[in-house]
Amino acid sequence: MSRKDVTLEWAPAGSQAIRAQRFEAAVAESPTAIMCLANEKGQYVFVNQAFADLVGRSPAELLKSDPYEVWVSISSPEEFERQRHEARRIAAGEVDRLQMDVSVRSSNGDARPLRSTIVGSRNERGRLEYITVYYTSLEEQRAAERARDEAESLLQQAQKLDALGKLAGGVAHDFNNRLLVIIGYSELIKDQLPPDSLLAPQVDMIIGSANQAAELSRQLLAYSRRQVLVPGAFDLNLTVNNVCRMLDRLVGETIQLETTLEAKRFAFSDQGQIEQVILNLAINARDAMPGGGRLTLETADVTILAPPEPPAFPERSGGAAALPPGDYVMLVVSDTGTGIADDVIAHIFEPFFTTKGPGKGTGLGLSMVEGIVRQSGGAIDITTHVGEGTRIAVYLPCTSSVPDRPPASSHIGSNARGLGTVLVCDDDEAVRKLVVDVIAVRAYHVLQAANGKQAIDTAMQHEGPIDLLVTDVVMPGLGGVELAAALRKRNPDLCVLYLSGYIDRLDLLYGSLNSRTRFLGKPFVPAQLIQMVSAILDSAHVEPSARL
Ligand SMILES: Nc1ncnc2c1ncn2[C@@H]1O[C@H](COP(=O)(O)OP(=O)(O)OP(=O)(O)O)[C@@H](O)[C@H]1O
Ligand SMILES: [Mg+2]
Repeated sequence: MSRKDVTLEWAPAGSQAIRAQRFEAAVAESPTAIMCLANEKGQYVFVNQAFADLVGRSPAELLKSDPYEVWVSISSPEEFERQRHEARRIAAGEVDRLQMDVSVRSSNGDARPLRSTIVGSRNERGRLEYITVYYTSLEEQRAAERARDEAESLLQQAQKLDALGKLAGGVAHDFNNRLLVIIGYSELIKDQLPPDSLLAPQVDMIIGSANQAAELSRQLLAYSRRQVLVPGAFDLNLTVNNVCRMLDRLVGETIQLETTLEAKRFAFSDQGQIEQVILNLAINARDAMPGGGRLTLETADVTILAPPEPPAFPERSGGAAALPPGDYVMLVVSDTGTGIADDVIAHIFEPFFTTKGPGKGTGLGLSMVEGIVRQSGGAIDITTHVGEGTRIAVYLPCTSSVPDRPPASSHIGSNARGLGTVLVCDDDEAVRKLVVDVIAVRAYHVLQAANGKQAIDTAMQHEGPIDLLVTDVVMPGLGGVELAAALRKRNPDLCVLYLSGYIDRLDLLYGSLNSRTRFLGKPFVPAQLIQMVSAILDSAHVEPSARL
């Protein structure tokens, strides 16, 4: 807009004096900071209150001040040079008006982002007479820009997570089925080898590699929050103690391991996964202390209040402050190690990000930790100081219910002798065969079906009762959950064991799991399957003699 376009329309009524009065009031009261100076005299002509507030001096004081000195006092040296360079274009007659974003230092030293508009007024001979500067705040605009950038980066992260989740999920179902067959049959072969067989170490190599591949698939699913978590009440203190037994061997003599276990509440999450969380955090802590140090594991009850208290330390967005107010159980893993530098901390939760040498870290540890904790409804806060150490706090939901008896997989039920009829349904032939072979080893009576419809037909044709349905969850046609519901219409006492390496709709299972309806993640080892089957049949008090 050229200066000629600048007009001020007055209504025809009103004297010149009234106009001048109104005009002055408008400038004086304007929220835009305005000052006008006479070019040649180098003095202020007028300043309004907003400008005086911006500079931190009274209007009267300002009128007695040297504008040049005020300008220097509110600008950093570089900022001043930059602005002066631009402003010279007006003095040189290059332009009459220009706009630039500046940073103004207030009296308390804070820098405020402002947009300044500088307008030069010339007399008829073209001499620059007055310079008027308008400052408008950019803080709101900057805050809106920051909020937009943050939202964009969150969206990008969510899209990345979603894409990886779909990929991991798509692969995991088949991948875990294949691994299950490899691990399962290798274990069965190993069981049949004579104790001194030269083939045993080779079979162990197969099992070891397949387990590593299974771990990778598990970590990817955990990171993308598509892992099947089976939440329940558990004692976090006992879990920490269990992990510590393992850690004793892992941390070495130069690291002092300490625990302060003060949680009174029970955590509500997947205990097995939380063990993985603790182990990963503790191993990271160990790796951060190559010259030795102190590794501390703590638990405590915490209550998050509304509104959340401002964090006392820098943290990632989405930390405990983002949790709904309420009671939580907290696990803290801290070390006296290297600490994490600012440029590293922004990346530590990214999958495959590692600062460890090739072959030393996959960079999936913390991505998995974050996935499990977030999927459990918890949060993570990190405090770290380079050269001093790192403290990672994990907040987990808690529950007033008491833990169940120890999970079935940790004990061999008395029904391991194999009494009862089991119907196995899986559309993957190799998997189905393995499951049947493993269960039949214990002399259970096993029926099998390749899909849900066949399973229903088999159950209808079978004369005696079926005690347990072992079924895949994701199958074309009738899925495992629908199959179980259909069979339970006929036999409400039917026990169900779901097997799956990946489930898209986890909510289908949650809430339905109990001592008669359980879940086992693929891949598993044959012993786990047998333990689970016998524990379920035990808890259902199968009376085989009465049924066979
Ligand atoms: N306690 C810690 N102290 C210092 N740095 C840490 C700590 N925990 C994590 N880090 C940094 O975060 C990076 C990522 O950790 P993450 O556990 O995801 O992967 P990793 O430990 O490198 O590999 P993996 O866990 O897969 O074996 C590490 O390489 C390390 O640089
Ligand atoms: Mg790690």
